[in-house]
Amino acid sequence: MTENTNSRASSTGDDAVSPGPGNPAERAARLREEIRRHNVLYFQDDSPEIPDDAYDRMVRELEGLEAAHPELAKNSPTSEVAPPPGGRSLNEVVHDSPMLSLDKALSVQEILDFEDRVKRFLGSSEPLSFYTMPKFDGLAVELSYNDGGLTLASTRGDGRRGEDITSNVRTIDCIPKKLGPGAPGSAVYVRGEVYMDKDEFSRLNEEREAAGQSIFANPRNAAAGSLRQLDSTVTQKRKLKFFSYGLSDPEASGAKTYGGLMKALSDWGFPVETSGASRVSENLSEALSVFRDLEAARDNLPFEVDGLVITVDDLSLWPRLGATSRAPRYAVAAKFKPRAAMTKVLAIEIQVGRTGALTPVAFMEPVLVSGVRVAQATLHNEDELKRKDVRVGDYVILQRAGDVIPEIVEVDLERRPAGLSAFEFPKTCPVCGTEAVRKPGEAVSRCPNRSCPAQIEARLIHFAHKNALDIDGLGQKAAAMLLANGLVRLPSDLFRLTAEDLRSLPRFGDKSAAKLIEAINEARTKSLWRFINALSIRHVGERVSQILASRFDSLSALSEATMDQLQALNDIGPEVAKSVLDYFQSPLNHNFLQALMDDSLVSPSPSETEIPAEGSLSGKRFVLTGTLKTMTRAEAKARIAAKGGRVLSSVSKETDYVVAGEAAGSKLTNARSLGLTVLDEEAFIKTLG
Ligand code: IVH
Repeated sequence: MTENTNSRASSTGDDAVSPGPGNPAERAARLREEIRRHNVLYFQDDSPEIPDDAYDRMVRELEGLEAAHPELAKNSPTSEVAPPPGGRSLNEVVHDSPMLSLDKALSVQEILDFEDRVKRFLGSSEPLSFYTMPKFDGLAVELSYNDGGLTLASTRGDGRRGEDITSNVRTIDCIPKKLGPGAPGSAVYVRGEVYMDKDEFSRLNEEREAAGQSIFANPRNAAAGSLRQLDSTVTQKRKLKFFSYGLSDPEASGAKTYGGLMKALSDWGFPVETSGASRVSENLSEALSVFRDLEAARDNLPFEVDGLVITVDDLSLWPRLGATSRAPRYAVAAKFKPRAAMTKVLAIEIQVGRTGALTPVAFMEPVLVSGVRVAQATLHNEDELKRKDVRVGDYVILQRAGDVIPEIVEVDLERRPAGLSAFEFPKTCPVCGTEAVRKPGEAVSRCPNRSCPAQIEARLIHFAHKNALDIDGLGQKAAAMLLANGLVRLPSDLFRLTAEDLRSLPRFGDKSAAKLIEAINEARTKSLWRFINALSIRHVGERVSQILASRFDSLSALSEATMDQLQALNDIGPEVAKSVLDYFQSPLNHNFLQALMDDSLVSPSPSETEIPAEGSLSGKRFVLTGTLKTMTRAEAKARIAAKGGRVLSSVSKETDYVVAGEAAGSKLTNARSLGLTVLDEEAFIKTLG
C-alpha cells in the first residue's frame, strides 16, 4: 500500500460479493468470509483488492442481515471489538494546518548549531530566551473545540491527514471536554501528546501476560494501540494521559511568549507538564543545563521522555522563522543518548536450538532500555559467557545494540554479591543428557542427538516460522502441545492433522483449530525455497535456500544433488554443500523427507528468483518512510541491500524494521500500531554498521 492508506485499493474494482438473492444464512456466511478475507488483505497484507466503499457496502449488507436475523450475528466480524492490527477503519481527518515534526539535535554541538541557525535566520545577534519542555514519548493529537466544547480529536497521521479518535479521546479523564474560563469562544485547536505512564504500562503488560496476550514493547506502542481502538471501552480501561504543548494557531491565545501560551493552556483546563524542566531559560546555556538535569532525572519521571524540546520563547519571532515542510525553525528536539539500564540476572538457561547449538540466555528482572522492556538477552555461546563472566545474581549493564537487540555489555563488579560462583557451562545437553560436542575451532557446543526433544520442538517451530513455511498460529506453545500429545512427531505430520485432532487439545477451540488447519493448508503450496529453509539443514538459511531453489526445482531433485553440482553454485562452498549432502543421506531424515516429497501432501511452487546478498541484515525486511537527512532513499535502499536486507514498500507484521525519517507517513503509524521495531535515522545508521 502506498503512503496514502485511506483506500482499500486504488482501482475501482468490483464488489467481491455481488448482491444477490438467496438464503440469508448462506448470504451472511459468504459475506462474513469475504469481509474477513478483505480484513486480512487490508490490515495484515497491506494489499487491498477492493475500494473502501465496496467493503463498506458489504459490511452494511451484513449488518442489515444480522439486524433482521439476530441468530446470524454470532461470531461476526461486525461485532468483533478489537480491530485487526493496524486498524484503520477510523475516519480520516484533514488537519487545518499541518502537524509538523521537530528537527533533532543529537549532541550539544547540534543544540548550539540550532541557536546559530535561528540567529542567522533572524539576522540578529540579540540574546534569545528559550522555553524548554520534556519531549514526551507518546502520540501527537489535535483536539478541536467549538464554542468551548470538544468536538473532534485526531491523530497526527502523516501530518496532513490523521484519524478521527474523538470517542476514544473522550475517555481520557484529564482532557477537558469543556474549556475553562478565559478560553476563546471560537474554534480552538489544541495540540499535545497522549501517553501512558510507566506504572500503567507495567500494569497493563502484567495483565496481558497473565491473560496469555502479547505484551507491548514500550509505553508509546501501548498508547498508540490503546488510542486507535475501534471500541472506546478498551481505550477507557487503559488509563491514558495527556500533556498539551501548543495550539495550531499560537496567536489565538493572545500570549506574547511560549511560556505565556503554556500558562493560558493550563488556565483553560489542559494538563501541562510541571517537572521543573518546563520553564523559561534566559539563554541557551541555561537551557543546556535543564537538558542535562532532565537527562539525569528521566528515570524518576512517571512517564517516558526521550529528550528536551527547546523553543524560542518570543512568539513574535515564530512567523519570521517559519518552518520547512517538515519542521518549524523556532524549535529543536534535543535527544538524550541511547540508554543503558542496570538490572539483575535471575537465571542463566541453556537453550537447545534446532541444530543442537547450546546457547546460554540470561533472564533478568525486566527493565526498560530506551523505552523497550527487556527481560532476557542472549549470551551467544560458552566463550562469550566466560569472557563476560556473567553470574546468576549479578547486576549487569544492558544496552540495545543499534538500539535494537538487547545486549549485556558488562557486569557491574562493584555490585557483585560475595560468594557468587561462576556459571558452569554444561558438558551434556540439559534436555536429553547426551554429551555435548564442541568441535575444535568452533565457539558453539552442540547436542549431537537429532532426536533430542528440544531439537525436535525447535525444528517444528522453525518449520512454521515466517521465514520458512510461515504457518500462523504455530508458535512455541502450539508446537509443544502437538508434540506432547503425540499428534506430531515430525514436522511433516502437520500435513496430516485434522481440525478434529486439534480440538482434542486443551486451549484449541473450533475457531483456532480451523484457523491453524487453514494455515497448514496454505503452507502446502508455498515456494520451494521456504520448504528448503524449513528443513533445518545446518548452514542453510533463507538465502542459501533461495540459491538452491533457483537451481533445483523440487526437493527430490535437491536430494539427488551431487557435491559438484552444489559447489558449482555461486556462494555455495564445500562446507554448505557437505551439510546438504549429509542431510539428505542421513537415514534419520528419511521418513520426514519421504513425506515432504509426497505430492499428495505438499506441492512446493517454483521459487522467486531474487537472491539477496549475504550480510549482517540477511533476510531482514525493511520499510522506509519519511525523509532521511544524511542519505537519499535510493542510497538507503542500496545500503540495506548491500548488507543482505530487502526493502519492501508496505508495512506488515512481517516487516523487521521500519526506518522513519522526518515527516514519516502513515507507514510509521501502521508500524507503531503493529508494534514493529521503528528505527530513527541514527539507529538505522547504527544498524547498517
Ligand atoms: S512541540 C512543530 N513539545 O514530538 C511541532 N512536541 O518530533 C511542535 N512531542 O509529533 C511540537 N513532546 O508529538 C512539542 N514537549 C513537546 C513534545 C513534542 C513530544 C512530539 C510531538 C511531535 C514530535 C515532533
